[in-house]
Amino acid sequence: MAIKYTFMGHATHLLDIDGTKIVIDPFFTSNPLTNVAADSVEADFILVSHGHFDHVEDVVAIAKRTGAKVISNLEITNWLQKQGVKNVHGQQHGGGFQHEFGYLKLTIAHHGSGLPDGSYGGNPAGLLITTAGKKLYFACDTALFLEMQLYGEEGIDLFVVPIGDNFTMGPDDALKAVRLVNPKLVVPCHYNTWPPIAQDGDAFAARVNEDDTEAWCQALKPGESLEL
Ligand code: NI
Ligand code: MN
Repeated sequence: MAIKYTFMGHATHLLDIDGTKIVIDPFFTSNPLTNVAADSVEADFILVSHGHFDHVEDVVAIAKRTGAKVISNLEITNWLQKQGVKNVHGQQHGGGFQHEFGYLKLTIAHHGSGLPDGSYGGNPAGLLITTAGKKLYFACDTALFLEMQLYGEEGIDLFVVPIGDNFTMGPDDALKAVRLVNPKLVVPCHYNTWPPIAQDGDAFAARVNEDDTEAWCQALKPGESLEL
């Protein structure tokens, strides 16, 4: 079993798990950090953490073109059905489900979740994925919170954490999050997309790597991948 993780810039991520393609928070069309066109993206599953524009922009188009199953909170999957997306699976944070690609639990996230048209988007979530003998925790858009320590107790192989500040944790709180989660590998996201969230990813990685935890951090450029 092999997992390939690709950072697409901002908070959009791809997973290839033994050929099963998963897209997390598809934001391609207006994403200044990627030239990848939404209509070229392959997907078997699409995971949506919350309703904000920079996480749902391309979900309807990719879902309709590929037939991928979209997994999100129930308010967002209901909204997607009204947009004509038929293949959906609703969960809520705290709840997990064994999907074909692995076990997905929606975690707490402290953030908003309003949809672009003003519809109520329920509660925002993080994504905790258990697959191929590994655990991947995407904190998604969130503030720092102490329960991250409980997710860390599961033994996290990859922790994807926002560092942009302003809308989410900044680097100082993200470093505290790494200490709480104590993962093997850390990748920062949700930064450098626009001026209010400008951050130095390599400087954050250096802070993590000099810190007194086992975690190794690598700031990926958009389009770069890691094999887990
Ligand atoms: Ni957001
Ligand atoms: Mn966001």
